[in-house]
Amino acid sequence: MAQLDGQVALVTGAGRGIGRTIALQLAREGADIAVTDINEDWAQETARDITDIGRKSIANCTDVGDYDQVQALTAQSVATLGKIDILVNNAGISKARPFLELTKEEWEAQLRVHMSGTFYCSQAAARDMSRRGYGRIICISSVAALMGPIDLAAYGAAKAGVAGLVRAMALELADHGITANAVAPGPIDTELLRSAWPKEVYEERANHIPAQRLGIVDEIAHAVAFFASPESGYISGTILPVDGGSVAAGAYMVEKYRRRKANGGAS
Ligand SMILES: NC(=O)c1ccc[n+]([C@@H]2O[C@H](COP(=O)([O-])OP(=O)(O)OC[C@H]3O[C@@H](n4cnc5c(N)ncnc54)[C@H](O)[C@@H]3O)[C@@H](O)[C@H]2O)c1
Repeated sequence: MAQLDGQVALVTGAGRGIGRTIALQLAREGADIAVTDINEDWAQETARDITDIGRKSIANCTDVGDYDQVQALTAQSVATLGKIDILVNNAGISKARPFLELTKEEWEAQLRVHMSGTFYCSQAAARDMSRRGYGRIICISSVAALMGPIDLAAYGAAKAGVAGLVRAMALELADHGITANAVAPGPIDTELLRSAWPKEVYEERANHIPAQRLGIVDEIAHAVAFFASPESGYISGTILPVDGGSVAAGAYMVEKYRRRKANGGAS
């Protein structure tokens, strides 16, 4: 028996990238999946692939930053698939901009999708989870929430807000058998990353990561599946970096990089 047999997961931003891989991973582990994305075609494609795996799935087009749309999303998910056991707050946007040039609109867009979206989806899903006294909420934060990011002030602040919300939910929802955790990815090779960084920055970035490579989407899905497991019930309120060791290395990465360059790759 797969560990998520009989369970239902709702994954936001599941049309492509990390979210799509998470949805497929949870389906392979036995869960039925409510796939939602602001792009309807992408959501439908992921839902079709989940049906091919042999699980039930619905495709839904929702903007997570719209409160009413999120209420309709969770109502539809419960009406069609019966309940929500697992929520993955993955939908996200990113755009690099120096702090002094950041516009009001860009600032508000980041807070809207990441913070409001995570709050709206988590509250609506937790209301259903609390009826059965069981739930797993997993948010995709970022290492930008744990370090001072460059040209990503709004993104980093919004992702740090998500981490704060996770800790608050972990405490308040514990009474209802619901855990809340976050995965904080380092740079993961997706369309979002390629669009946020110029090509030369993107290609150079791996040299500044202890693991000497960008992460792949499956590595984030693996961490999400860990938190989603029924066996992870005593883990709540944590922010797990999945970043090739970057947060741990901190400023020492400068010296590691210098030695690697001096020694032709080895340190
Ligand atoms: N790729 C990285 O390096 C990286 C690093 C750290 C954190 N993250 C986070 O991981 C998550 C997924 O990122 P990705 O790299 O797969 O990006 P992506 O752009 O490939 O996928 C994001 C998905 O979210 C959807 N989306 C955007 N705004 C939405 C909204 N308002 N409502 C519903 N859906 C919406 C998009 O349509 C898209 O399908 C994001 O939260 C991102 O911030 C990514």
